[in-house]
Amino acid sequence: MTETTAPATLPMTMVEMIKVAKDYPPKVTALSDISLSIPRGEFLFLIGMSGAGKTTLLKLIAAMEQPTRGLIEVAGCDITKLKGRSLALQRRRIGMAYQDFKLLTEQTVAYNIAIAMEVAYRKPQEIHTTVRDLLEQLQLADKHDTPAGELSRGEQQRVTLARAVANDPELLLIDEPTGNLDTTTTVRVMELLRRRHTAGATLIIATHDPAIYQGSPHRTLELHRGRLHTLNPGTDPQIGKGEQA
Ligand SMILES: Nc1ncnc2c1ncn2[C@@H]1O[C@H](COP(=O)(O)OP(=O)(O)OP(=O)(O)O)[C@@H](O)[C@H]1O
Ligand SMILES: [Mg+2]
Repeated sequence: MTETTAPATLPMTMVEMIKVAKDYPPKVTALSDISLSIPRGEFLFLIGMSGAGKTTLLKLIAAMEQPTRGLIEVAGCDITKLKGRSLALQRRRIGMAYQDFKLLTEQTVAYNIAIAMEVAYRKPQEIHTTVRDLLEQLQLADKHDTPAGELSRGEQQRVTLARAVANDPELLLIDEPTGNLDTTTTVRVMELLRRRHTAGATLIIATHDPAIYQGSPHRTLELHRGRLHTLNPGTDPQIGKGEQA
C-alpha cells in the first residue's frame, strides 16, 4: 500500500459530510444540506421512506456518485477529488452491498464473491477458504456452483452481502440487507454484520426493517425527503474500538 492519499495514522472520523446536496437534473433533489459525522467503529442505521435518499447517501459515501455541493471525507480523504488509482484504492477500503444486488447473473455464486477478492490481489487459497466460510455462515454452502441468476431474491441478497464483506473492509455500506429474508435468516445476517463490527468495521445499514433497528442501542438517523433527522442518538459501546485494532 504505497500509493495512497490516506493519512498514515487512522483518523478517528470514518465519514465526514458537510452541507452535502445531490440533485438529479432536471427536477429531483435527492439530498439537501446533509451534515454528518460518523466516528470510526460506529454502527449506524439509516432509515426513511422509499425515495427519501438512503441509497443516494450510501452511493455518495462510496464515491459511486458525485455530490452536487458539499464536502465528503472518508477515512480522512476528500473523495470528491480522488481519481484513477487513488479512487480505486479508496474504494477498496469500502464494502458495499447493493439494494439491487449487482451480481454477475451468468456466473456462479462462488465466482461473484471471489472476483471481489481477486481484484484486491488476495491469494487463491485465502479466496477459496473465505468464499466457503462466508457461504457456510450465510446458509448458502450448497449454492457454491449455482449461477447467481438462478437464486431466489433472498439468496442473491446474501451473496451481495458476502461479496461486500469478503475483503474485510474498514467501512461497510449495507443497503437493505434483510428485505427479502425470513426471521431466522435475518438473525444470521445481522450476526455476521455484528461480528464485523466487533472486529472493528464501521457499519452503515440502510433499512426499512424495524425488526433490525427498533430497540437497538445504535444511532438511528432518518432521512425525510432528502433531509436528515436523528431518531435515536445511540449509546454505541463499540465506537472507536477499530482504532486500537
Ligand atoms: N440515477 C437517478 N436519476 C434520477 N433520479 C434518481 C436517481 N437515483 C435516485 N433518484 C431519485 O432520488 C430520490 C432518492 O432515491 P434513493 O434511491 O436514494 O431513495 P431510497 O431512500 O434509497 O429509496 P428506497 O427505500 O425505495 O430504496 C428518489 O426521488 C429517486 O427517484
Ligand atoms: Mg434505496
